[in-house]
Amino acid sequence: MAPRILINGAKGRMGQAVAAAAKEMNLPVGGAVARGDDLAAAVAGRKPVVLGTTGHGAEEKKRLLALAAQVPCVWAGNFSVGVNLLFALTRRAASVLGSDYDAEVVEMHHRFKKDAPSGTAARLLEIILEERKLGAEALRHGREGITGARTATEVGIHALRGGDVVGDHTVMFAALGERLELTHKASDRGIFARGALRAARWVVGQQPGVYDMQDVLGLK
Ligand SMILES: NC(=O)c1ccc[n+]([C@@H]2O[C@H](COP(=O)([O-])OP(=O)(O)OC[C@H]3O[C@@H](n4cnc5c(N)ncnc54)[C@H](OP(=O)(O)O)[C@@H]3O)[C@@H](O)[C@H]2O)c1
Repeated sequence: MAPRILINGAKGRMGQAVAAAAKEMNLPVGGAVARGDDLAAAVAGRKPVVLGTTGHGAEEKKRLLALAAQVPCVWAGNFSVGVNLLFALTRRAASVLGSDYDAEVVEMHHRFKKDAPSGTAARLLEIILEERKLGAEALRHGREGITGARTATEVGIHALRGGDVVGDHTVMFAALGERLELTHKASDRGIFARGALRAARWVVGQQPGVYDMQDVLGLK
């Protein structure tokens, strides 16, 4: 029997996209949850969870991950198959190209987005930092004024906002004489919704622990 799904933030853009995709896929959505700490409620009820909200601070994320690890949980800042492949390609490019290639990430989202940089950009940066063995202090959020020449160890991140852009991400590796750009453009929230529902189907029956879309898609 298909799992019954409760959507938190059901009235928002993503909540509505998930409800529409669930209808297409004949997955029952039902019940209402009180607004509050919904993750704690799901953990108390031993229910598997799929988490896709972004913008949490480091401490908050640590607290949520510790809580989520008590049940089977998929946590992903981006549920699209294309973006998850972009994560894998970025890791490969950062490893092959090395620090002689300056890494910069540019993202663009609709004017209503409340957090920056996007969760997807944050994950891309994490991957580059991991491959280059750099800490978060290497990040440069935008640049302004007399910044001096770019250092070999910095990684730039630039967040553009405007219109109804669903989500664009470009990772650049620029050296003297060549530049590699990896770009993903989302044009329909349905890709996130379908991915989240794929994760919801997958997570039922898994052991407690926090998984990501690379696990769901078998990309590891
Ligand atoms: N993982 C992915 O693939 C993916 C893709 C796209 C977006 N996202 C993320 O998903 C989140 C939602 O995006 P959106 O575009 O749907 O935003 P949105 O349109 O602003 O909707 C957010 C919804 O969540 C509700 N909400 C806010 N705080 C809540 C709380 N503490 N408890 C329960 N409900 C709460 C809001 O209710 P009110 O209107 O009453 O405040 C609203 O219905 C963002 O963090 C975004 O970055 C993730």
